[in-house]
Amino acid sequence: MAEEKNKRYVELVWAGKYDKFDKGDKIPIEKPNLPFQVVETVNKPRVKGAYFYPEYEYPENYPKDWENLLIWSDNKLVMSSLIKQGWAGKINLIYIDPPFFTGADFTIRTRLGDERIEKEPSIIEERAYRDTWSGGIASYLKYMYERLVLMRDLLAENGSIYVHLDWHVGHYVKVMMDEIFGYENFRNDITWKRYHGAKNNAGRKWWEETDNILMFTKSDSYIFNGDFKPLSDEYIKKEYKFTDGKGRRYRTARRQKASKYQVERNIYYLDESKGVAVGNLWYDISHVVSNAPEYTAFFTQKPEALLKRIILASSNPGEIVFDAFCGSGTTLAVAEKLGRRWIGCDLSKFAIHVTRKRLLDLHNSKDLVEVKNER
Ligand SMILES: C[S@@+](CC[C@H](N)C(=O)[O-])C[C@H]1O[C@@H](n2cnc3c(N)ncnc32)[C@H](O)[C@@H]1O
Repeated sequence: MAEEKNKRYVELVWAGKYDKFDKGDKIPIEKPNLPFQVVETVNKPRVKGAYFYPEYEYPENYPKDWENLLIWSDNKLVMSSLIKQGWAGKINLIYIDPPFFTGADFTIRTRLGDERIEKEPSIIEERAYRDTWSGGIASYLKYMYERLVLMRDLLAENGSIYVHLDWHVGHYVKVMMDEIFGYENFRNDITWKRYHGAKNNAGRKWWEETDNILMFTKSDSYIFNGDFKPLSDEYIKKEYKFTDGKGRRYRTARRQKASKYQVERNIYYLDESKGVAVGNLWYDISHVVSNAPEYTAFFTQKPEALLKRIILASSNPGEIVFDAFCGSGTTLAVAEKLGRRWIGCDLSKFAIHVTRKRLLDLHNSKDLVEVKNER
């Protein structure tokens, strides 16, 4: 078990982690199985070109009877019920953007017309808020630990998980994920430059312009379709200096042969270049601006381009994508557009409402999602 193996190296301990258990025992996570109650079922049209990204259509392997799930409930209950109902090992990609431990994560700020409004938490949100924050960072870590263990159980062998956080707790969660998923399955610490504006006031520390996205996989054999960015004009000018008789631009690179006196040059044509491989510094995706078509006015909404990059890289068409903190539904909307199957949940009714509307609008028809709720 990854947990056991990694205890040799390091382990994060928080107040109460081993209450009731001897140190070193596996912490049992309660797994209630609550039935899902269908609130609404809507049928999806299989319309060609219905996607926002028209190059993607429902793939061959998309089961005809598949129903995407949008679930209104605490994700701990959702995930344990999914596991009990046979979903363990079936999810190919998980993206989560949980509260960042800023203390204000459960008040939903949004906009109605031009007016900015704050929506107070409902009773369930408030209860979750109290459970999560009342014991400070220790209770946050317990909350994340329980959920990440359930996510590991849901992930397929070829699956990946991306956890979006920032400086508040990102480093703690990294160490916790080493324990749960295995240090050897840690693939990337992605830095996303979220803020692209300029600040005039320096303040008393360097202002925060980045988030971190931790990528772990379930095993060593995982899906990864790397992404490429177009070459810049400057790079083309500098590197692709030659043009052949047919007008094709190319660059050359030295290739050492067996003897050090024999050097060959390989030729690389510009029109055959895929571009530059994207690394772990993502500075080319801006936060969602208020005049963007995807803008939902949900305060913590993440850009579709961010999810597009993650979903294309770490899942194949027809596979299952899960977001346990779906908020305004960015992951689900992009998964839908890219021909992936999806499951999402949120404990906020408001978030479910925004997501449902967004998914319905996406197909510009009344028939898309299935909304389920727990008793
Ligand atoms: C940062 S937002 C996610 C934003 C989302 N990525 C987007 O693009 O809109 C976090 C969401 O997690 C939800 N949440 C917090 N704790 C939860 C829990 N225990 N179960 C389900 N959802 C939860 C909140 O209601 C909130 O909508």
